Amino acid sequence: MKAFITGGCGQVGSHIAEILLARGDEVVSIDNYATGRPEHLSEHPKLTQIEGSIADKELIDKVVGDFRPDVIVHTAASYKDPSDWYSDTMTNCVGGANLVNAAKEFNVGRFIYFQTALCYGVKPTEQPVTLDHPINADNSSYSISKTVTEEYLRLSGIDYVTFRLANVIGPRNVSGPLPIFYDRLSQGKGCFVTKSRRDFVFVGDLARYAVKAADGQGNGTYHFSSGTDVAIIELYDAVVKAMKLNNYPEPEVREIGEDDAESILLDPSRTFADFGDIEFTPLEETVRRGVEYFKEFGVHGGYTHLKHDDKK
Ligand SMILES: NC(=O)c1ccc[n+]([C@@H]2O[C@H](COP(=O)([O-])OP(=O)(O)OC[C@H]3O[C@@H](n4cnc5c(N)ncnc54)[C@H](O)[C@@H]3O)[C@@H](O)[C@H]2O)c1
Repeated sequence: MKAFITGGCGQVGSHIAEILLARGDEVVSIDNYATGRPEHLSEHPKLTQIEGSIADKELIDKVVGDFRPDVIVHTAASYKDPSDWYSDTMTNCVGGANLVNAAKEFNVGRFIYFQTALCYGVKPTEQPVTLDHPINADNSSYSISKTVTEEYLRLSGIDYVTFRLANVIGPRNVSGPLPIFYDRLSQGKGCFVTKSRRDFVFVGDLARYAVKAADGQGNGTYHFSSGTDVAIIELYDAVVKAMKLNNYPEPEVREIGEDDAESILLDPSRTFADFGDIEFTPLEETVRRGVEYFKEFGVHGGYTHLKHDDKK
């Protein structure tokens, strides 16, 4: 198979690329290193890496037109500065539209997308959130701009799968609490935890199922989530354990900010029906692998799409 992966040096894209390359597929990856890092994806005879932006229509048309992939796996996203609406729209809207257009024009058979659960808003009206829950993306630039590509996919008539995600973590994770906890604890600094809960999913689990989707399994919209959540403080404790810390600061517990969700528990029943039962990697193992990565490569990022987060 020939796969064009956007954001191939990011957390999700690099794990998918590795699976495809290991089984002999041909991969072209594009990344502008906004949040990803070149060292996330090792050189491989069947891998071509392009440094560039998906917002560049000419480049995307050329890459897709020349390579003629069987599938586009679109993981690239902009989110690191919540007030940088320009970058978010260029990457998440213009970039997404460029890719969907190119898929149509060059008859790419399949398109895999990754959407944020924040598309349901920070106060979903049901728990767990079903796929019928209304879209309510106006909580952040990230959420608004990420929703556009899902709409274009629906409009295009092409064969696609979109995974709406819980929190995906593990090695190469640059956003959310895991890298922030590791970074601060390794410097002996205190952390705060909010009273929120999250469904943390191992990136390797998502990558395996994204490959199944790239191969043709499933159609339309899915939740990739275990359907159970844990308190953020449980993640903190798992990081402390994985770092084997004896003396560590007790975290400060804070109320949930206005633009944050208490919990967004996604109902994965359609995913289990179409992809079969998923054995999720336990949180402790997921965190252990993330911590191993940070020990070797350091923390780059610790980004959040939330306005109020205090990283000091
Ligand atoms: N990780 C999560 O918990 C989570 C949750 C919801 C949705 N998602 C979605 O899953 C996808 C993958 O997320 P991730 O965790 O791997 O993030 P990531 O930041 O590790 O990967 C995104 C990659 O896209 C690249 N990129 C950004 N702008 C680009 C551009 N204009 N052109 C080319 N490359 C560009 C970045 O450099 C990075 O390598 C994203 O679409 C994200 O919105 C992730």
